[in-house]
Amino acid sequence: MSVDPDKKLDLRRAELFDFHGVPMTHFFTDTWEDVQNFQARPDDILIATYTKAGTTWISYILDLLYFGQTSSERQTSTPIYERVPFLEKTILPVGSGVDQANNLPTSPRLIKTHLPVQLVPKSFWEQNCRVVYVARNAKDNVVSYFHFDRMTMTQPEPGDWSSYLQRFMKGKMVFGSWYDHVNGWWKKKQAYSNLHYMFYEDMVEDTGREIDKLCSFLGLSPSVEEKKQITDGVQFDNMKKNDMVNYSTSTAMNFKISPFMRKGKVGDWKNHFTVAQNEEFDEDYKKKMKDPSLQFRTVI
Ligand code: A3P
Repeated sequence: MSVDPDKKLDLRRAELFDFHGVPMTHFFTDTWEDVQNFQARPDDILIATYTKAGTTWISYILDLLYFGQTSSERQTSTPIYERVPFLEKTILPVGSGVDQANNLPTSPRLIKTHLPVQLVPKSFWEQNCRVVYVARNAKDNVVSYFHFDRMTMTQPEPGDWSSYLQRFMKGKMVFGSWYDHVNGWWKKKQAYSNLHYMFYEDMVEDTGREIDKLCSFLGLSPSVEEKKQITDGVQFDNMKKNDMVNYSTSTAMNFKISPFMRKGKVGDWKNHFTVAQNEEFDEDYKKKMKDPSLQFRTVI
């Protein structure tokens, strides 16, 4: 990617537009050719999520599993968004996720994406890379997304909660429809065995159990102490205090509006949905979520 050093850092709220059938903002399409041509390596691990499903959480877990014992410098002075590049994100003139990924010195490379499955660069599939997908129930996901859009100055203006919820149901969000995203990746898992599909609710319920399952997918066997250290380190309260993973170093976010590490709960949707909104949402949900094998929990 060529970067124009005279171009100012553009942190204004972006507009949504249709991009190959998916609503996007320019931050995720500015270097699209580079994204599509990205050369994955066989040991790359792709972390895929719909926005606000627990991306940072799973990124930090993977980072600790692979690199927690290797370099304390990494843990104390490199923010998680530099350790785990966001593949399709470009902030001019700072740089692009593709460049960041290409410059990663580590192996394996941990790479994050929010792309719906059909837009993922084909080299990940050709190289048979391992993919970790995390999905979160729609109600908590939309609440978290709403607060994120309020505090992130590069996201489209969220408007009020009730219109935001309508927009979510219509799939008019950055990275498109939640319903299409979770279903698309679920279908992919049936055909592509190197995909580990996780649920945020399971991680909240029993983080240690989910780390065990993840390790068996990745072929890792951390020691008992190491696993305990990781499980403790990735608890919400510890991550909230950890400046390298809580996004306090991000210039695009306004923590006075809402913190990035906000609540970390299952069921916060109950504090946002009215009874009428909940009924309408459930009706609509039934029409869109037809696959009985994909079930979400909205309470645990
Ligand atoms: P809330 O806004 O509901 O609190 P992402 O990293 O994909 O942007 O997701 C952010 C969401 O994951 C936020 O949800 C954040 O609080 C939650 N989260 C991050 N780390 C967590 C943890 N250790 N335990 C529980 N939730 C966590």
